[in-house]
Amino acid sequence: MLEEIKQTAEFIRARTGDFRPEVGIILGTGLGGFGDRIEANYTLDYHEIPDFPVSTVEGHKGRMIFGRVKGRRVVAMQGRFHYYEGYTMQQVTFPVRVMQQLGIGYLFVSNASGGINTSFRVGDLMVITDHINLMPNPLIGPNLSELGPRFPDMHNCYDRELIARATEIAEEEGIKLQYGVYVGGTGPTFETQAEYRYFKAIGGDAAGMSTVPEVIVARHMSIPVFGVSVITNCGLSDEAGDHEDVQRQGRKAGVRMELLFKRMIKSL
Ligand code: HPA
Repeated sequence: MLEEIKQTAEFIRARTGDFRPEVGIILGTGLGGFGDRIEANYTLDYHEIPDFPVSTVEGHKGRMIFGRVKGRRVVAMQGRFHYYEGYTMQQVTFPVRVMQQLGIGYLFVSNASGGINTSFRVGDLMVITDHINLMPNPLIGPNLSELGPRFPDMHNCYDRELIARATEIAEEEGIKLQYGVYVGGTGPTFETQAEYRYFKAIGGDAAGMSTVPEVIVARHMSIPVFGVSVITNCGLSDEAGDHEDVQRQGRKAGVRMELLFKRMIKSL
């Protein structure tokens, strides 16, 4: 596994003129538009990259963009891998391992989710303050001790300083933020009404099918994480979840998320 990670990083370095990204960004459903507006130096489709899975979900483009955001060197993943697509947790999190080898010092993650906090509205941006993992843990198996400890601490999983900075920037820009706990389930079904109630009862504010594996692996390697979730539907309402709605709401809220990410990246 470590060998594959290193080989893939080596391949990417060779293809990107030794571009050393400072920040990794993962763009979720409907949020890929940000990637199109990065001043790109290099772009690699996932299918060109050895040992990378290929994203199968509509609305996910499937490429890595190496470029600059407000002068900072970034690598953005336009499209991610989900457990429900049939990949192993090692495959889902492989890109984060590779980004760490390329040199990232921060990971910014984004996703679309169903709000279960009844004060949330469709289109809200929720800063992820913590998560509850209801998927298999991606660190199950032999520990890659060169990268991190067997029993990683998960306090401050979503970096408190970065959250405080987001609050300041959002106030300056007039962006409304919600804050909450993201519950990561496997999908691909949206939750039943009883499951949304259960997620709420155990302390969740939003339900999704991604992000948690990547964040666990980033924290295993001590990379500070900042995460934002776009609330694309309200789980406890009577309306059915729908992937097209999720994509549309993602695109709309993505404009605000992009502004927040850009200003945060500039401030690092
Ligand atoms: N549940 C799970 N994942 C989601 C949802 C949801 O309601 N909305 C967007 N992604």
